[in-house]
Amino acid sequence: MKKTALITGITGQDGSYLAELLLKKNYIVHGIKRRSSQFNTSRIDHIYQDPSLHKRNLILHHGDLLDSPNLFNIIRNIKPDEIYNLAAQSHVAVSFEQPEYTANADALGTIRLLEAIKNLKLQSKTKFYQASTSEIYGDNNLKKLNENSNFKPSSPYGVSKLFSYWITRNYRDSYNIFASNGILFNHESPRRGETFVTQKIVKGLVKIKYNLQGCLFLGNLDAKRDWGHAKDYVFAMWKILQHKKPDDFCIATGKSFTIKNFIDEVAKNLQMKLKWEGKGVNEVAINTRNNKKIIAVNQMYLRPSDINSLTGDYSKAKKLLNWKPKINFSQLVKEMVDSELDKYSK
Ligand code: NAP
Ligand code: GDD
Repeated sequence: MKKTALITGITGQDGSYLAELLLKKNYIVHGIKRRSSQFNTSRIDHIYQDPSLHKRNLILHHGDLLDSPNLFNIIRNIKPDEIYNLAAQSHVAVSFEQPEYTANADALGTIRLLEAIKNLKLQSKTKFYQASTSEIYGDNNLKKLNENSNFKPSSPYGVSKLFSYWITRNYRDSYNIFASNGILFNHESPRRGETFVTQKIVKGLVKIKYNLQGCLFLGNLDAKRDWGHAKDYVFAMWKILQHKKPDDFCIATGKSFTIKNFIDEVAKNLQMKLKWEGKGVNEVAINTRNNKKIIAVNQMYLRPSDINSLTGDYSKAKKLLNWKPKINFSQLVKEMVDSELDKYSK
């Protein structure tokens, strides 16, 4: 019998890679997408199957994490073996502008799904994966963060995700649901949304290279992140649900780099030479070929509070799940740059 999975957030970066992975593993994949005024399925168009096909293994449903009856009905009809809750208002800076909406989707949305599993008495059938995040640690002085590190989130997004982390554990302990958290550190890919810093840098510098943009404005250039590849990380999600018991796992690369390091690596791939000058909000990068300022800070991109550094320790996942990242920082940057250049050459 084929396994059935339900992915919330299937139209997002991770949802699209996970859907591909599960289809390869012969699952029947159901995905929840939001109704939008224009198509929002560009990341999954290549695996889309026409609803008029008699036999499909990718089925999309309209839905929203804010809509309990809708989620309940979808889960009642499908009775999935696995639910991956990837849907979220996932932008940290936006969560300061829309804290209530973020909490509704990212915190209460998780309860709505867990309640459906509980009330439909699917405990013995349905496993639940919660997309937790390194944002729940907040600013910290620790070199490497693991499953036992303290949580002190510093954004409405992080606080909402910490609620979901705990409610997932609570439903596991209280109702015997196979419910696990993947505490994932930043992960990127050519499918990364354009307002996250990595993709913004890649797209911006490629435009500058082709003289289509003057200067790229960013926020905190000194923040450090542990960046992995989304493809590696969705494999970890699947492994977490195949483990013999529900548990929580940090998924990371163990290495972190500053935003400036990321910019330098992109520039290297584009054969551009940069010179950094100034400090703090006055820091700029100059293109040494023409002496033009191409990176500067705009204070509108600084957050009310930011996390200076995040580095993860994935040794538990390595030991218990036999998982480790395959794609390193420079390979990730190269893939993102090549993919962007490819669009221009086409
Ligand atoms: P993403 O690209 O922003 O995708 C988010 C998905 O959630 C999209 O499909 C979006 O739909 C959907 N969504 C948003 N609000 C919704 C709502 N109210 N109801 C239903 N669907 C909704 O995020 P991602 O990078 O793939 O991340 C996947 C999950 O992992 C998120 O929960 C994120 O918070 C978490 N996470 C991400 C990272 C990372 O570095 N990428 C690290 C740790 C945790 P639309 O396409 O319609 O917008
Ligand atoms: N987005 C953005 N835009 N970030 C900038 C900019 C800019 O112009 N300039 C500097 N930054 C800094 C941010 O202040 C932050 O310190 C860092 O770059 C990374 O920002 P994002 O790429 O937006 O990612 P994030 O770390 O805030 O959140 C991502 O990773 C989390 C896991 O740690 C998201 O994917 C979250 O959903 C995820 O949970």
